[in-house]
Amino acid sequence: METRQINCRPGEVAGRGHDLAIEVGGLHQRYGSFEAVRGISFSVRQGELFALLGTNGAGKTTTMEVLEGFAKPGDGQVRVLGLDPWRQRRALRPRMGILHQDAGFIGDLTVAETVDMWRGMSADAGRGTIDNALALVDLENKAKTKVRQLSGGQKRRLDLALAVLARPEVLFLDEPTTGMDPEARVATWRVIQSLRTEGTTVLLTTHYLEEAERLADHLAIMHEGRIHTYGTVDEVVAAAGDQVTFRLAVSAAEAKTRFPQGLPFVAGNAPLVTYAADHLQAVYTLDDGHPGDRAQAAMRTLLSWSDQSGVTLERLEVRRGTLEDVFMRVVGEVR
Ligand SMILES: Nc1ncnc2c1ncn2[C@@H]1O[C@H](COP(=O)(O)OP(=O)(O)O)[C@@H](O)[C@H]1O
Ligand SMILES: [Mg+2]
Repeated sequence: METRQINCRPGEVAGRGHDLAIEVGGLHQRYGSFEAVRGISFSVRQGELFALLGTNGAGKTTTMEVLEGFAKPGDGQVRVLGLDPWRQRRALRPRMGILHQDAGFIGDLTVAETVDMWRGMSADAGRGTIDNALALVDLENKAKTKVRQLSGGQKRRLDLALAVLARPEVLFLDEPTTGMDPEARVATWRVIQSLRTEGTTVLLTTHYLEEAERLADHLAIMHEGRIHTYGTVDEVVAAAGDQVTFRLAVSAAEAKTRFPQGLPFVAGNAPLVTYAADHLQAVYTLDDGHPGDRAQAAMRTLLSWSDQSGVTLERLEVRRGTLEDVFMRVVGEVR
């Protein structure tokens, strides 16, 4: 797969206005002499969930902090709801919900006291009641519990309750489910999905590919300060290619005499063949052609070859590429 710097919808960033909630154009961000973000561009439509995936240190949190108005953009342009998050912080802040990667709570307060304190601090939070906030993240029965007694996952859910207290138009979630057990993670996905249904725009970072696969309308894979892959989940996964695998019960020597021409090409692709003592394994990666029917075309070729050669394709399997395949390729190729 080709790996290159990708600018997402650059025309829309340049043309701005209309329905974009988040616009990032050519953003560079430095810490001293180290360039953590190296010219990224992407945009997020209103009501959309955009997932920023990436390795540790890719620059995801740095990007979030610029969008949240905590850091001045080094170079390039950013807009949130059409406003400059650094210069127009005051106007923008009440319209944004923020879940930081690392949250700080006061351990001696109870859950209810924490929500109440937060409600007092954020100008627009009065509309949300404590009960509603805790019900949203399934912590009603923990209202009187001290924050320090919560599990890591429960603290994270309290974080989320606070981030959405003021019913923000744009929600920034920096690794919202890190440290959660699978059940809490699924519950959190439900909360995020219900916020989406209400029209909230969400920018999410995550290490969990499954999370992005479930939630994201569009996603970008970031590595070492650059965006390398961008698209809808389907587009990105389609680029991973389908994998067709099978075994033939022949040794390497037998394969040579029985198939002097080698194994067939499928849509121009040669297989990757590995040999064991009594069989060989063939793997084809299909990444050209239409994702909807390329596997069927490949099967046709392989089955007719199998008939002609009088050999059985054992353990024949077609597997759709996964987001993990793409992720590993991006990270692997750049290294
Ligand atoms: N305050 C800082 N000072 C210096 N370097 C930093 C600072 N914050 C982050 N970095 C570096 O910038 C890079 C990007 O970090 P970050 O945006 O936190 O990545 P991510 O959230 O994708 O893991 C990393 O190499 C990190 O070490
Ligand atoms: Mg981070």
